[in-house]
Amino acid sequence: MVARVKFQGSTAHRARHGDRRERVLACSFVSDYLRELFSLGGRRALVTGGSSGIGYAMAEAIGRAGAEVVIVARREAPLDEAVRALRRHGVTASAISADLADQVAVRRVCDAAGRIDILVNDAANNIRKPMAELTLDDYEQTIAVNLTAPYLLGQHFGPRMAERGWGRIINIGSQQTVSAFGDSGVYGVAKAAIGGLTRSQAEAWSPRGVCVNTIIPGFVLTPLTAPAQAIPGRVERLAARHMAGRNGVPADFAGAAVFLAGDASAFVTGQMLFVDGGFYVH
Ligand SMILES: NC(=O)c1ccc[n+]([C@@H]2O[C@H](COP(=O)([O-])OP(=O)(O)OC[C@H]3O[C@@H](n4cnc5c(N)ncnc54)[C@H](OP(=O)(O)O)[C@@H]3O)[C@@H](O)[C@H]2O)c1
Repeated sequence: MVARVKFQGSTAHRARHGDRRERVLACSFVSDYLRELFSLGGRRALVTGGSSGIGYAMAEAIGRAGAEVVIVARREAPLDEAVRALRRHGVTASAISADLADQVAVRRVCDAAGRIDILVNDAANNIRKPMAELTLDDYEQTIAVNLTAPYLLGQHFGPRMAERGWGRIINIGSQQTVSAFGDSGVYGVAKAAIGGLTRSQAEAWSPRGVCVNTIIPGFVLTPLTAPAQAIPGRVERLAARHMAGRNGVPADFAGAAVFLAGDASAFVTGQMLFVDGGFYVH
């Protein structure tokens, strides 16, 4: 079957993409090796924010790499839709509806989720107001979802992973983990703290096989950034600020998710992985 794949591209195309037939054949030789390095078979993952955007893409990638996936968000309809999509990809998936701003609901998620080997803290809000207009309620709501929930989920699952000698926590940061970026406000406060949370968790649990890392996206076209996308010219201006010359899409996070969720990243911990098309270093 593989031997019948015929490459029909021009020389220029071949230079850019390589000979497809050769690459497919090469893959068939290394697939066992890749499986060993990247397979998430037998693992159970909890992905907050897994019903949309980057969270869904990461849930799908982790699931398609072999893990059972539990996704968490508030709205049931998008959760159901995401579970159906995951199942269409052959993923064993389920959902828990919970408002992660509510600590009682976070506790319920911990109890309902059971054994978790891979925790992805993706759910977040972003209240985009000038700094001086932020209310105490805006502050508390943002800190609750974007920082306290990742902290509490880590406090529950981290020690259990360490006890079993294997675990992965992937926290989702932002450019605002490391710099200011247009009305950063309290979102920036929470995302900066996510970098610190990652380092504290890594320090605590890495000696017992739990790697903890932060993914830093660029500007990604998702519902969260819809208000920014609605500003005329902003999408184009932001695309130009990425070295890659475009904004991110959720699928850009699949490879990083599988890498950081599995054995391949066993010596990578406490780090920030910029999946941002070169935005930060431009
Ligand atoms: N998009 C970007 O450009 C960008 C850039 C940097 C960082 N990030 C980060 O990437 C992550 C994902 O963002 P995204 O752009 O993919 O956003 P998104 O598509 O809007 O998804 C956000 C997810 O979080 C869930 N969520 C929000 N508030 C919640 C709450 N209180 N309780 C439980 N679930 C909640 C949402 O579901 P419900 O609404 O149903 O609850 C949804 O599943 C976030 O941490 C974000 O800060 C995104």
